[in-house]
Amino acid sequence: MDARVSGRATFDLGVWSAAHLQRVEQALERWVSADAATDAEGGAPAELIAAMRYAVLDGGKRLRPLLVLAAAQAAQSASGERSDATSTPEVALRAACAVELIHAYSLVHDDLPCMDNDVLRRGKATVHVKFGEASALLAGDALQAMAFELLTPDDDAIPDRQQAALCRLLARAAGSSGMAGGQAIDLASVGVALTERQLRQMHRLKTGALLQASVMMGAACGDVSSQAKDALMSYGAAIGLAFQVVDDMLDVTADSATLGKTAGKDADQDKPTFVSLLGLERAGVYAQELLAQALAALARSGLPETQALQGLAQRLVNRSC
Ligand code: IPE
Ligand code: IPE
Ligand code: MG
Ligand code: MG
Ligand code: MG
Repeated sequence: MDARVSGRATFDLGVWSAAHLQRVEQALERWVSADAATDAEGGAPAELIAAMRYAVLDGGKRLRPLLVLAAAQAAQSASGERSDATSTPEVALRAACAVELIHAYSLVHDDLPCMDNDVLRRGKATVHVKFGEASALLAGDALQAMAFELLTPDDDAIPDRQQAALCRLLARAAGSSGMAGGQAIDLASVGVALTERQLRQMHRLKTGALLQASVMMGAACGDVSSQAKDALMSYGAAIGLAFQVVDDMLDVTADSATLGKTAGKDADQDKPTFVSLLGLERAGVYAQELLAQALAALARSGLPETQALQGLAQRLVNRSC
């Protein structure tokens, strides 16, 4: 086994990510399958499957699935197990893809004319531009349903209690106390000067909840102590908030070609952001403070293998797109 991939000795995040990304891409390609579309009775409409595949495949940084896999690896290391990409447990791969499906659905709906009205996503035309609004709405609905189907295989791949725990974590993060709730606050806040506390709450829900759930779903793939669980919760909360602070910054500092989505939208649409509230420089300082909090939480987790989680936190805060 290559020590750089396994997360021991000389850990290399690039090597680790490439190996794990390959597993995720293959699994997504297989599960959001073109074969589901058929004219035969019982098959899914080809146009809907095409819109789902367009939304999920071929693009995106896949940060959430990588967080699931990194947390699963850290959790496994607690019981002395060693793992690499080739030995990723089925449950972790399913959890990683389920989170990405919810994320992809949230992007499709976020881009709709009734929300952010965006035409560019992951370097391509948005789903509603390419397939129409009704298909985009339905593709999002179907991706959400598929996420939970992935977590509940009808063979013995995942014990019932673990299936229920994973579904609960994901449902909570996606619903009214998580992403959907945060999106509702976002839409209601156009042109409103939020306090820092209110803005933090909005970002925690709309973006942070799903990132934190990615970490906790990975943890739920193993058996971690309550100390480790608390530490991972804090890590997830810090990177979840930092992620949206950086997204707000990149909206101002990066161009559309680099981002693969329309830059400058937040100011155009009069959205409250960490940049509009604090200015670029202080927003950057805040993101680095959150990174330090995340790394400190990992250090007190007591988990032996946290290199991938450390590296992903650094990548997520210091990213340029
Ligand atoms: C963009 O998320 C939407 C937000 C939650 C801010 P990402 O920046 O992770 O988007 P992809 O998956 O890489 O396209
Ligand atoms: C959206 O936040 C977060 C989601 C839940 C999809 P943004 O509206 O800032 O995301 P981008 O900038 O369009 O990717
Ligand atoms: Mg939005
Ligand atoms: Mg948007
Ligand atoms: Mg944004």
